[in-house]
Amino acid sequence: MPCFFGKGGSPLEETIEWTPAMSVGVPLLDEQHQRIVSIINYLVAAKGPRISADAVDVALVQLRRFVDEHFRDEELILEECGYPALAEHRQEHREYRARLAEHSRRALGGEELMSDELVHFVREWWEGHILGEDRKYCAFLSSTDAKSRGSDSG
Ligand SMILES: [Fe+2]
Ligand SMILES: [Fe+2]
Repeated sequence: MPCFFGKGGSPLEETIEWTPAMSVGVPLLDEQHQRIVSIINYLVAAKGPRISADAVDVALVQLRRFVDEHFRDEELILEECGYPALAEHRQEHREYRARLAEHSRRALGGEELMSDELVHFVREWWEGHILGEDRKYCAFLSSTDAKSRGSDSG
């Protein structure tokens, strides 16, 4: 029987594989998503006793910086396009930012060292968000884009 989840691990222990299905159709946002995915993959792959606390700190600080930058840019683009579900989307971003900040604070303070909980949280939430909420605005942007192209051409 084929193993759906790969080589004996659960899906959460695997790195996120970027596929075209994850594209939101905006090159800047796709690039930012990929950059964030690569840091998350680093954390997933490095999980365990071999990773040093310093390396975790650097990765978490970097992740928070990229996430902040990305959320800001994404929200600006959605605002400019008049995305109707922006408030809910912003709220999801706010929650992630807060939970990531809390995990980082505990990790940086030495209370939490690359726990499964931390890795699963950043990985699962992020993949779910790209494939969930971000897909919704992708559909909206492509429909408004198609509409404006249609009106341009008369
Ligand atoms: Fe988002
Ligand atoms: Fe996003």
